[in-house]
Amino acid sequence: MSLSKEVPADAFPQGFAWGAATAAYQIEGCWDMDGKGPSIWDTFCHAKGRVFEDQTGDVACNSYQLWEEDLKCIQQLGLTHYRLSLSWSRLLPDGTTNYINPKGVAYYNKVINDLIASAVMPMVTLNHFDLPQALENRGGWKSPEIADVFDSYAKFCFKTFGDRVKLWITVNEPYVCAKHGYEDGLYAPGLREPGTSVYLVGHNMLRAHSKAWHSYDANFRHLQGGKVSIALSSDWAEPLDPSNPEDVSATERYMDFILGWFACPVFCTGDYPEKMKTRIEARNLELGFSEGPRLPKFSEDEPNPLGTADFFALNYYTSRKVKNTSSHRSELSFKGDQGAEVVMDPSWPICGVSWLAVVPEGLRKLLNYIKETYNNPDIYITENGFSQIGPVELEDIERWQFYQDTLQEVSKAIRDDGVSVTGYFAWTLMDNFEWAEGFRARFGLFHVDFSRAELKRTVYHSGREYAAVISRHRTHIKLEKT
Ligand code: BGC
Repeated sequence: MSLSKEVPADAFPQGFAWGAATAAYQIEGCWDMDGKGPSIWDTFCHAKGRVFEDQTGDVACNSYQLWEEDLKCIQQLGLTHYRLSLSWSRLLPDGTTNYINPKGVAYYNKVINDLIASAVMPMVTLNHFDLPQALENRGGWKSPEIADVFDSYAKFCFKTFGDRVKLWITVNEPYVCAKHGYEDGLYAPGLREPGTSVYLVGHNMLRAHSKAWHSYDANFRHLQGGKVSIALSSDWAEPLDPSNPEDVSATERYMDFILGWFACPVFCTGDYPEKMKTRIEARNLELGFSEGPRLPKFSEDEPNPLGTADFFALNYYTSRKVKNTSSHRSELSFKGDQGAEVVMDPSWPICGVSWLAVVPEGLRKLLNYIKETYNNPDIYITENGFSQIGPVELEDIERWQFYQDTLQEVSKAIRDDGVSVTGYFAWTLMDNFEWAEGFRARFGLFHVDFSRAELKRTVYHSGREYAAVISRHRTHIKLEKT
């Protein structure tokens, strides 16, 4: 990691959103309290052998009961924005609007009202991995009917909270959810159905998203004036050998199968990337697969995904070097379709979890790629962070170094490259339940003491420094105005 200077106060434009993000299942706990229905993550964690040491989000940070403590953390950081997700099954225990749980509504009303009273703008995600179990029992994201059920849930949320919430994310990371949930089985619902369900799930997520965006556009936008998008995760990828055309096209494929899969339909053409379509069709022939198209087609009878995002919501964590491979060629799998092998550059440090190579400069490159490829959208970086595993260091110097380097890269993308970055959300406000890693991977700006019932939050060095950057920025903008 390079040693960078302090982030200058004038590095970011006026109105820049300074945020931190969380997700309901990772922080709320109280998994069956006050009428909440179970989600697929409750079921997944309650089965043994899925999560590190069989840990669960049953209690997590207990944000359902300790919201006021979270609010203090948000205020201490001086955030202008806070990204949270709603637990769908806390609001609608069986996933449908047949029954609305008043205690769930009251909880989120309090959270949203407290944020607004503290001059913090909420950005609200409707679904961050935790699909209601009752819907999973009806086929979940694999079932075509999910798009309409999601649309009803979205309309209910717009109607109930949209007078105050102006930034909405429909679905978080369809790539991660489809790949880990249905291809690799690492995330809920833990299915391993390689090369097939992954595309169906991604498709239904896009259909659900599009319907919800169109509902907002037609019925709520003129009254509420908010914006709606979908949060897309992507690595930045570069060819291992830039002079080898096969590595170059494997890298393009890698990006298309992660980001283009969702960004191309929404921001470019209303359809999947050409290279993804032809590759999957060619592989169907090669493997003699004849049970219908694996990559579904968008129906003309439904709203098209093109144009269904009012901004680009990007979650960036890491970068990869990519080389061409045919090693999974004979198997029906996403990997075989993608035909790209990832290689870690040995010069990139790894932070905590094995997949997380620390490459802040990859973010600037990815922002430029998005500007060029997806028609220069306004971009919110809706997640970006650094994890620790092992003995906790409250003086997390390396994490702060990472944030400083990253913010420098973002500022260069804005100032030098003309990318329209409108905000940055650190992942995450406080240590929480890191999915299959349980509590051992800590991404927080606040430390949480999971060994005691009070679940005390204590600011890390990185949290203090992030607060100082935000405060310097705010003072600078005030001075500029006078
Ligand atoms: C997810 C977060 C997660 C983070 C770190 C993202 O994929 O949206 O929920 O905690 O990565 O793994």
